[in-house]
Amino acid sequence: MRVTIIGAGRMGRGIGTRMVVGGNQVELIDTDPAEARALADELNRQGGGKASAGGRGGAIGGEVVVLAIPYGAVADVVAEYRDQLAGRVVVDITNPVDFATFEGLVTSPERSAGEEVAGLLPPGTPVVKAFNTTFARTLVAGEVAGQKLDVLIAGDDQAAKDKVAALVEAGGLRAIDVGPLRRARQLEQLGFLHMSLQDRLGTNYGSAIKLLW
Ligand SMILES: NC(=O)c1ccc[n+]([C@@H]2O[C@H](COP(=O)([O-])OP(=O)(O)OC[C@H]3O[C@@H](n4cnc5c(N)ncnc54)[C@H](OP(=O)(O)O)[C@@H]3O)[C@@H](O)[C@H]2O)c1
Repeated sequence: MRVTIIGAGRMGRGIGTRMVVGGNQVELIDTDPAEARALADELNRQGGGKASAGGRGGAIGGEVVVLAIPYGAVADVVAEYRDQLAGRVVVDITNPVDFATFEGLVTSPERSAGEEVAGLLPPGTPVVKAFNTTFARTLVAGEVAGQKLDVLIAGDDQAAKDKVAALVEAGGLRAIDVGPLRRARQLEQLGFLHMSLQDRLGTNYGSAIKLLW
C-alpha cells in the first residue's frame, strides 16, 4: 500500500518503521524537507518496503495519509492539503494535551481531536483514530517486554478501519477496533493517562497499553 506520513518527527519515525517493515511504500512530508529525506534514508536501511521524501505542499501519493504532527498544526495542515485528502483515509494520531497544565486535554469532552479532523475534511473523507496510545520509540521497536503492541483504532468507516488494521498487522502489531470515531474521546483520554504515568512509573515513554484476554 502507499502511505503518506505528514510529519517526520518521532511518530513519523515510529509509524514509518512499522509501515516499511510491513512492505509498504512510505512517503514522508515535513516542514523541513531535509528531515523528511533523512528519515526516508534511515527507513530504507531497514529493508522491507521503500520510503521516499515528498515535497511540502506537493502531490500526496498515499491512499492512507497519517497526520504525524502536533495537534496545534492539524488545522493548518488539513487546510493546506484539504482538496487532495478527499477520497483518502486520513489517520489522526494526536493527543490534544493541555501542556500548560498537564492536567488534561484542550478539547471538549464531547468532541475529540479525531472528530474535529473529520469536520475539517471534505465531507465523506474517512478519518481513523489510531496510534495515539502507542509511544514513538515502542513503535520503532515493535514490542514491549516481548509482547506485540496493541494499536487501538476508532472510526466510522469500516473499510477505512480495515485498511489501517491491515497496515498495523503487516507491521507486526495487533490492531483492536474499539468502535466508532466518537470513541476517540476515550482514546485521547487514555493517551493522556498513559503520558501522565511516565514520571510516576519511570518508564521514559517506553511502556505500552495492552489488552489481555
Ligand atoms: N511521541 C509520541 O510518543 C506520541 C505518541 C502518541 C501520539 N503522539 C502524537 O503524535 C503527533 C506527533 O508527535 P511527535 O512526538 O512525533 O512530534 P514531533 O517529534 O515534534 O514531530 C512532529 C513533526 O511534525 C512536523 N510538522 C509540524 N508542522 C508541520 C506541517 N505543517 N507540515 C509538515 N510537517 C509538520 C514537525 O516539523 P518541524 O520540527 O520542522 O516543525 C516535526 O517533524 C502529536 O500529535 C502527538 O500528540 C505522539
